[in-house]
Amino acid sequence: MVPAGGLGTRFLPATKALPKEMVPVGDRPAIQWGLEEAVASGIHRAVIVTAPGKDLIRAHFTPDPSLESLLSERGNQEMADRVRAIGHLLDLEFVEQLQPLGLGHAVLCAAPSLGTEEAVAVLLPDDLFSGSPPLLAQLLQAHTATRCTVLALRRCPRDQISRYGVATVEGDGPVFKVSDVVEKPAPEDAPSDLAIMGRYILTQDVFRALATTGPGALGEIQLTDAIRGAARSGQVVGVEFSGELLDVGTLDSWLATNAAVVWRDPELGPALRARVAELEAAGS
Ligand code: G1P
Repeated sequence: MVPAGGLGTRFLPATKALPKEMVPVGDRPAIQWGLEEAVASGIHRAVIVTAPGKDLIRAHFTPDPSLESLLSERGNQEMADRVRAIGHLLDLEFVEQLQPLGLGHAVLCAAPSLGTEEAVAVLLPDDLFSGSPPLLAQLLQAHTATRCTVLALRRCPRDQISRYGVATVEGDGPVFKVSDVVEKPAPEDAPSDLAIMGRYILTQDVFRALATTGPGALGEIQLTDAIRGAARSGQVVGVEFSGELLDVGTLDSWLATNAAVVWRDPELGPALRARVAELEAAGS
């Protein structure tokens, strides 16, 4: 499932009407990168939790045969094929989160559409993954081996750690046993430098815990709090993954991520590099 119900307040004013998941990164909206990672990880169905007024997300992933025909008629078959592929990327269901009560609440909103048998992959679209194998595939591999809830972990400088959930771990990694988790600790209280990043495989015991989890850090229902019980009973592992995670949740991080993505893109990169060289030469 993909939580996409946030208000985007860290990205105003750009996100006053535009869902933050729809800001472009390179040539496509941020959320499309996330769904493409899911597909590349072998996932073919997703539940997207949106909020009222965020209909553009659904519109982007809905097939548009008239646009495809128009592009074909104008001889742009390549773009017609790309537009068609977006509409058939994977089987999507949309659920609305009516109040912004937190990540844990968003995950709970998707629960009725997810069934009660299997583990569920959760992908936060604010974090773009670049690398191979895809991050969700790395986590799914750890889940297949352990049957546990799986967290993506990355080392984080202490002065930034209070932005994240943080894991207490045992073992040497890269696959750790996670014995406890805490959401947004003060730097001096952080149990390690391993921050939880925006990918999870959740087993059903976490969903059961979520149903009775009250507000935590920031007054929100926190997914981290629902994971704590499973961690304390030895049912959670963390993967210090390989590859790069690029943030698009704030204006600053989105600009930096766009620069990195476009810089490396074979089609878009040369124009950006030429323009940067021009600006540098002009001293502006
Ligand atoms: C959420 C989670 C947090 C995690 C982070 C990763 O926080 O609650 O545990 O470390 O995503 O991006 P948010 O960014 O929604 O504040």
